[in-house]
Amino acid sequence: MALVTSKEMFKKAYEGHYAIGAFNVNNMEIVQGITEACREEKAPVILQVSKGARAYANHTYLVKLVEAAVQECPEIPIVLHLDHGPDFETCKACIDGGFTSVMIDASSKPFAENIEITRKVVEYAHDHGVVVEAELGALAGVEDEVSVDADKAFYTRPEEVEEFVSKTGCDSLAIAIGTSHGAYKFKPGTNPQLRFDILEEVSRKLPGFPIVLHGSSSVPQDYVKMINDNGGKMPGAIGVPEEQLRQASRLSVCKINIDSDLRLAMTGTIRQFFSEHPDKFDPREYLKPARANIKELVRHKLIHVLGCNGKA
Ligand code: G3H
Ligand code: 13P
Ligand code: ZN
Repeated sequence: MALVTSKEMFKKAYEGHYAIGAFNVNNMEIVQGITEACREEKAPVILQVSKGARAYANHTYLVKLVEAAVQECPEIPIVLHLDHGPDFETCKACIDGGFTSVMIDASSKPFAENIEITRKVVEYAHDHGVVVEAELGALAGVEDEVSVDADKAFYTRPEEVEEFVSKTGCDSLAIAIGTSHGAYKFKPGTNPQLRFDILEEVSRKLPGFPIVLHGSSSVPQDYVKMINDNGGKMPGAIGVPEEQLRQASRLSVCKINIDSDLRLAMTGTIRQFFSEHPDKFDPREYLKPARANIKELVRHKLIHVLGCNGKA
């Protein structure tokens, strides 16, 4: 199967009350870990590339890695998506360069400007058979060098979503309901709670329309412990409770973004490897268990968080 857009995937996910995992990729081991789990679990998948990933690994290397995954996993549909496209030019480069989906993230701009930028990307993307995710509302945390303080973050206003979607023509919408980027999403000792009232209100205004959640890592405490037990220092790293993500995926949320959890699995595994084998220096020896743990983490997400196993 060649790379696909997310159109069909989202339609089935919406109707089937599950979500597609959108995992960030930065190198070969991450691509392999994710897609091997998806192939074995027969799950459709979105592989997403941020501006930072393109700067780190180079656009062409990432596209070729994803194309290799498509060739190795012909049974499952795979989308190649630009995560947090910062401007029209970056979106255009990805549309021209083999991506099947882009996000234009103008959520930090005033409403009218967000509409204007998003509409321009949608026109170009649709002319080229590519779909577009847009965002309304601001998540706290760090995304591609832009850091949004918790007090500057704001929830999506449901009263704005119909006008935004109809004026931009975007294919899916990322909303802010209390998730945030990175490994420190909630304060220790507090009770993490997503704003399902906002999600339900948005869904009522946009029946049948796919909603996206960013910042949806659950920050597995086993990996936080593995990091802290092996020389790391990540006190108070807390993520989104998985049951709440599962609940969101039964509603209108069709795409759930996960990056930090992959990083924790990789870093924890490698830190532990070096604690146990201080004499080793062959990257294959520590990247192999890191890749295997990414695969198991993704398998867990597919089955217990997204519910998209067996849906390819
Ligand atoms: O939302 C941001 C993603 O986790 C990508 O992170 O910009 O460090 O590649 P990055
Ligand atoms: P996390 O930091 O929670 O993994 O979120 C990733 C994300 O939203 C990528 O766009
Ligand atoms: Zn994001």
